[in-house]
Amino acid sequence: AVPRVIFSGIQPTGIPHLGNYLGAIRNWVKLQNTAAPGDTVIYCIVGYHAITLPQDPVHLETERLNMLASLLACGINPKLSLLYNQDQVPEHTELAWILNCITPVGWLSRMTTWKSKLAVARNAGSEDEIDESMLNLGLFAYPVLQAADIMIHKSTHVPVGDDQTQHLELAQDIARAFNHKYGDDLFPMPQQLSTSAKRVLSLRDPAQKMSKSAPSDKSRILITDDPAAITAKIRGAVTDSITEITYDPEGRPGVGNLISVLAACTSEEPTLDLDAIGRSYQGRRIQDLKQDVADAVIAKIDPIRKEYERIRAEPSWLRDVSEAGTVLARERASRTMLEVKRTVGL
Ligand code: ADP
Ligand code: NA
Repeated sequence: AVPRVIFSGIQPTGIPHLGNYLGAIRNWVKLQNTAAPGDTVIYCIVGYHAITLPQDPVHLETERLNMLASLLACGINPKLSLLYNQDQVPEHTELAWILNCITPVGWLSRMTTWKSKLAVARNAGSEDEIDESMLNLGLFAYPVLQAADIMIHKSTHVPVGDDQTQHLELAQDIARAFNHKYGDDLFPMPQQLSTSAKRVLSLRDPAQKMSKSAPSDKSRILITDDPAAITAKIRGAVTDSITEITYDPEGRPGVGNLISVLAACTSEEPTLDLDAIGRSYQGRRIQDLKQDVADAVIAKIDPIRKEYERIRAEPSWLRDVSEAGTVLARERASRTMLEVKRTVGL
């Protein structure tokens, strides 16, 4: 088989929650552990993406270490994966600039993430109420930086959620545009590696996904939550007034979310029959289901929390890991930049 270069990134904007873990990071670990000998697996913490929104400098530095410790605690192994901070590898932004110069503005205007940020900033759709400070050029162009993140490593496979499909398609368009313009097959077409993981929903509002940015702490379980906190949050999860337990993700998203979290925490098997799990609770109370969900989440998360605390207490080791990753990533990235600049005539 052709060797794969697997690449993904995550922003240092908060401790990962259960959705990040079950929906993304767990799959990263699995890809790392099942990679073929010739494959390269690369995960990076994307600080340059984080600053497209306002960040407090001292806080950001802490978040970068928190995210590194989180990924290590979840099972990313720097001996198996290239793990580093994007903001320490200037080739990412250097390539992004070159890609900016072949990317039509119209491609970026069409991004739904941009359109929704625009809609928020344009209070009630009135053009003259744009908050200029929020709509910076970096926020507009960050999908190009994402394309550069992928392309700087000549990545072939990108494990990201469905919410990122449009951005990955943009990266493909940009790679194609570069290859076409310069008549070279310098960049492979990056393929999306989707997971079958179900979206984890907010524990306070099951119409929303679990998210770092939701106002209520009770809406999400962090990988650093202790057993008491996890139990309290699951007990407080919003469901509905029907006493019978059934798996009906559309009609009863709150209960459906509990069943799907239970399944995800007790098995890595994506084809697990969620209806059958629902039926197995026939005649039992929602409190029983919640207790089982809490136990399953604790069994999954508590070893990660303990590992996180152990690792986070060693900032000098964390910095060593980060620096070793930087050296390796710069080696790879500068090889690509040499080719790119030669191709472009710089
Ligand atoms: P957040 O929305 O909490 O800020 P990010 O956008 O940083 O999370 O997402 C990081 C990764 O976690 C992405 O691959 C994303 O698809 C995944 N992810 C985020 N929230 C969830 C969720 N609630 N359920 C499953 N996966 C999620
Ligand atoms: Na997000």
